[in-house]
Amino acid sequence: MTILVTGGAGFIGSNFVLDWLAASNEPVVTLDALTYAGNLGNLAAIAADQRHSFTRGSIGDGVLVGRLLRQNQVRAVVNFAAESHVDRSISGPAPFFETNVMGTLHLLEAVRGYVAGLEEAQRSGFRFLHVSTDEVYGTLAPDDPAFAETNPYLPNSPYAASKASSDHLVRSYRETFGLNTLVTNCSNNYGPLQFPEKLVPLVIHNALSGKALPIYGDGQQVRDWLYVGDHCVAIRLVLERAEPGTTYNVGGNNQMANLEVVHSICALLDTRRPRADGKSYAEQITFVADRPGHDRRYAIDATKIGRELGWRPAMSFTDGIARTVDWYLANPTWVADVTSGAYRDWIARQYG
Ligand code: NAD
Ligand code: TYD
Repeated sequence: MTILVTGGAGFIGSNFVLDWLAASNEPVVTLDALTYAGNLGNLAAIAADQRHSFTRGSIGDGVLVGRLLRQNQVRAVVNFAAESHVDRSISGPAPFFETNVMGTLHLLEAVRGYVAGLEEAQRSGFRFLHVSTDEVYGTLAPDDPAFAETNPYLPNSPYAASKASSDHLVRSYRETFGLNTLVTNCSNNYGPLQFPEKLVPLVIHNALSGKALPIYGDGQQVRDWLYVGDHCVAIRLVLERAEPGTTYNVGGNNQMANLEVVHSICALLDTRRPRADGKSYAEQITFVADRPGHDRRYAIDATKIGRELGWRPAMSFTDGIARTVDWYLANPTWVADVTSGAYRDWIARQYG
């Protein structure tokens, strides 16, 4: 048997593929369009691994997806492929709906056609796991309880709206066509191989480059930070054990204000790679205009996945952020590769 991982050259997808092959002998087929956010270098460690094959292409290409499913006798699809950066969804929403909504629709259609042709035993064992975000639930006030799976969808950014739409599509394929779907809604991830447009790697990269560390608004927006390896474990558990049609929230039980996260990164860099002038990297913190529609607080109630599947985050933020900073310090070539060309254009447009 084989699993198909879409978006497996991106941040979470590549961590998932690497972890999967380290823990299991089941082959993986990765399908990725290699947008600016996808990087084959993320999978360099398994370039010669016979259990892995890579295809460049879009989830929106139903013919290609159908062929990959049949040729490899795929027993499960894990869908990471998406446009994933909120700020980009504000400066240009259309690609988010093309990929996250229409792409997911075409992927679901290809899967539905494939599953219809399977024998009953394979059909009932087949799984489609859709990886989504807590941002579909909107924003929380300081005293609101954390997001449960029963919270209404109230997306505030074009990114969140596109992910909410894709979650609804997946639900409809379960209810209407009986596809064995699963959905995970996870909080903010951090860790190795994250493209330096998101807060944690952007701050590490800018700090080391002597640039400003841009804090939107007052920096008191709260996110529930989860180490990427813990997210990968959760996805694997859901794939193996969850009842079809189930949704699970996944989170770090680790709410922190952005400014606190940035200060913790600066403190680590101060000891590991002190600035030549002896000052702290925190001196580079610069408050900039707030993000339009900026969600004030996210927090995940992960009780259900803990109770039903026994999952809980294993990595503390202190250890996870130190490991992340060390990975970026040890991999300057990876950073240099992904921050050339198109990356520079984006940074110039976004931060002026
Ligand atoms: P990412 O932007 O790093 O990676 C996305 C990957 O999808 C890239 O490799 C890109 O090339 C690929 N891709 C884009 N369009 C494609 C298409 N049409 N066909 C095939 N591949 C395509 O994103 P990420 O942070 O790894 O997030 C992965 C998934 O997890 C996304 O669905 C995202 O919504 C979700 N998620 C992310 C976080 C987070 O904190 N990063 C949290 C919760 C959920
Ligand atoms: P980000 O990593 O883009 O994830 P998301 O928007 O999906 O939560 O941003 C995390 C938080 O950091 C969010 O509140 C926005 C804030 N942020 C900044 O303050 N400055 C920045 O340059 C970036 C990229 C994000």
